[in-house]
Amino acid sequence: MFGARCLLRALRSCSSAPCPRHKPSAKLSVRDALGAQNASGERVKVQGWIRSVRSQKEVLFLHVNDGSSLESLQVVADSSFDSRELAFGSSVEVQGQLVKSLSKRQNVELKAEKIEVVGNCDAKDSGFVHIHTPVITSNDCEGAGELFQVTPSSKIKVPEENFFNVPVFLTVSGQLHLEVMSGAFTQVFTFGPTFRAENSQSRRHLAEFYMVEAEISFLESLQDLMQVMEGLFKTTTMTVLSNCPEDVELCHKFIAPGQKDRLEHMLKNNFLIISYTEAVEILKQASQNFTFTPEWGADLHTEHEKYLVKHCGDIPVFVINYPLALKPFYMRDNEDSPQHTVAAVDLLVPGVGELFGGSLREERYHFLEQRLARSGLTEAYQWYLDLRQFGSVPHGGFGMGFERYLQCILGIDNIKDVIPFPRFTHSCLL
Ligand code: 4AD
Ligand code: MG
Repeated sequence: MFGARCLLRALRSCSSAPCPRHKPSAKLSVRDALGAQNASGERVKVQGWIRSVRSQKEVLFLHVNDGSSLESLQVVADSSFDSRELAFGSSVEVQGQLVKSLSKRQNVELKAEKIEVVGNCDAKDSGFVHIHTPVITSNDCEGAGELFQVTPSSKIKVPEENFFNVPVFLTVSGQLHLEVMSGAFTQVFTFGPTFRAENSQSRRHLAEFYMVEAEISFLESLQDLMQVMEGLFKTTTMTVLSNCPEDVELCHKFIAPGQKDRLEHMLKNNFLIISYTEAVEILKQASQNFTFTPEWGADLHTEHEKYLVKHCGDIPVFVINYPLALKPFYMRDNEDSPQHTVAAVDLLVPGVGELFGGSLREERYHFLEQRLARSGLTEAYQWYLDLRQFGSVPHGGFGMGFERYLQCILGIDNIKDVIPFPRFTHSCLL
């Protein structure tokens, strides 16, 4: 893969109009290039990120920005340069001649002789824009109170009582920030560290773990959301299997014999869907004795989740429509009765149990307003409620725990064995 990309890059820089032999190009910032008064064909090199691409029959227009100016530099290239890699967000190095522009919109433009893609923007491939959501936050997205508070170490003097004026915490989820960004980009994702002060010594809980989260605007059904979740699981797993077969085989051979077949079984079957209500019925009829008696309205525990997956023939199963009372304020009300549920979805997988958690979001102002008021959260989440006032659209998203994902595909029983420095209750080594 790496080799092929390098080869492509090398080919691209040779395949275009021949680069004349001349003295090396001077490196210019976009700001300096735009400010060139009498551009008359000087050879320059500009590095930056593609802000827009317009492809015409014989010409390709790129707008490149390196952060030195609010304006971007127009790059004009022969259409033979056109490629999938020249996409919004990709970083490029462009060499060519700085010339006077014929258009009134800009004084100068760069006539490209060589374009090298330094880093392509993979997120564009699936249409998802990568957002870096903050680690320090003042919200408790999940509302479960499993927060680590962040305060300066004692010696630092801050005029206010709190460094940020408000109490802040390590994030339990980037979801609410993603929801803000999903008002500008229809599909967004984040991948970063997440923290939960859960007092749990279980084989699937860490105090610090990584989560992949996605948020999709104009999404109206759990069916569509589940399709994205299943697609993410399957394509990621197939990519891992084809890119690092030796590593996977090593785990399968020495740690989890038979895991290869179990994984293939998961990949080749369509994931199943059951409702929470059906799940509780299945559990009630089970011959197995559970530590926690299954009951409508109670949380599903790991023992229940593992049983359900077994019951479904070791194929991952989506459990949908959980009781409203069990789930956070942001999940969309199904307006059903007498058993009041929300449009939530968890994906349960063999060996681990819950791997993904997601939902449709409550996009209706008055529904959300009432939910927040009932939980006494109106003031804290006014900004979130405001999102529903200005161009609100149906949307939904999910989060997948990365360490649990590794457990699932590699067949590793304890989450502490898929991470070099596990953090959990009473343990934070190094
Ligand atoms: O189900 P959770 O709590 O969902 C959320 O945080 C949503 N706000 C995500 C979203 O919709 N954007 O967490 C999502 C996943 C779980 O399904 C699980 O895989 C993982 O994160 N996870 C943990 N992994 C390891 N240790 C823990 N303590 C975890 N808690 C959750
Ligand atoms: Mg969950």
